[in-house]
Amino acid sequence: MLQTWLTRELGIALPIVGAPMGGRAGGVLAGEVSRAGGIGMLGAARYTTPEWVERESAIARDLGGRFGVGLMNWALAEDDSLLEAALAAQPTMVSLSFGDPAPYVGRVHAAGACAVSQVNTLEDLRQAEAAGVDAVVAQGSEAGGHTGRIGTLPLLQEVLEAATVPVLAAGGIGTGRGLAAVLAAGAEGAFIGTALLASPETIGPDYAVARLLKAESTDTVYTDVFDKARNQPWPSRWLGRAIANDFTEEYHEAGRTEEELAAQYDPALPERGVVYAGQIAGLVHDARPVAEVVSSIARDAERLLSRFCGM
Ligand SMILES: Cc1cc2nc3c(=O)[nH]c(=O)nc-3n(C[C@H](O)[C@H](O)[C@H](O)COP(=O)(O)O)c2cc1C
Repeated sequence: MLQTWLTRELGIALPIVGAPMGGRAGGVLAGEVSRAGGIGMLGAARYTTPEWVERESAIARDLGGRFGVGLMNWALAEDDSLLEAALAAQPTMVSLSFGDPAPYVGRVHAAGACAVSQVNTLEDLRQAEAAGVDAVVAQGSEAGGHTGRIGTLPLLQEVLEAATVPVLAAGGIGTGRGLAAVLAAGAEGAFIGTALLASPETIGPDYAVARLLKAESTDTVYTDVFDKARNQPWPSRWLGRAIANDFTEEYHEAGRTEEELAAQYDPALPERGVVYAGQIAGLVHDARPVAEVVSSIARDAERLLSRFCGM
């Protein structure tokens, strides 16, 4: 079995985290990842509500026992009610990403949860360590959703060299090969996001799964257009990786103003609405249940890593 710091610390069978994904990862997805042996996280985006967190946490707990919640530090600074709701639901793990986690780590620990933070640079690593997180997640630029600008492999290596806390990896990990690679490098586990997004347990618009299944690894774009169109005031250092569509093409070619963008955005239309997804989209070919995706990634990683046993 694939035993690491993560599996021992949380008492789980597999070093796999169902990544927090705002708008796509609710209680059913998170619960199914946990039921399959990993730990699944709710994506508590800034635009969601404490009531949603409370309701989806209960669903995740009923399905899988353990669950986590992913929050965004820059958004908590203006309103921490999502953190309050998350901690009241007694999660096993809380992810405090995108900004300084220092104001929140003590509250997560006081609630008995493990605090982790996705980091995109060595400076983020130092900030997260100073804040007292239990582990960091090196999140590479190939990840779906909001992320930094350094690729997973170079970032993971430099974070592993420098970190004093356990390190997980995120970004572009969607098969047993990817999981085996980051575990072999020294990571304690992986955040898996995009590879779960074709599963029927996701939430979000109907067209999102079809667009993901059609996308190749070359079809994503790193952009702030959807933040501008949806009035989400993300700090400028984090853009989001999404599947390119008419909206991203028009924006990047025509240089529209934020007001024009907001007026033209329509999430009901597949060629305008956002589908955040990473470069591993090119390997997501089927709409398989979450448990099947998680189990096959773990099984294939174990088989690949066993090649080196006894060397
Ligand atoms: C649709 C989508 C939404 C996301 N929303 C969040 C979020 O709300 N909070 C967060 O910390 N990370 C978010 N992420 C990033 C993931 O937690 C994770 O880093 C990423 O999915 C890993 O890369 P992968 O997509 O290549 O597996 C999101 C990713 C996706 C694909």
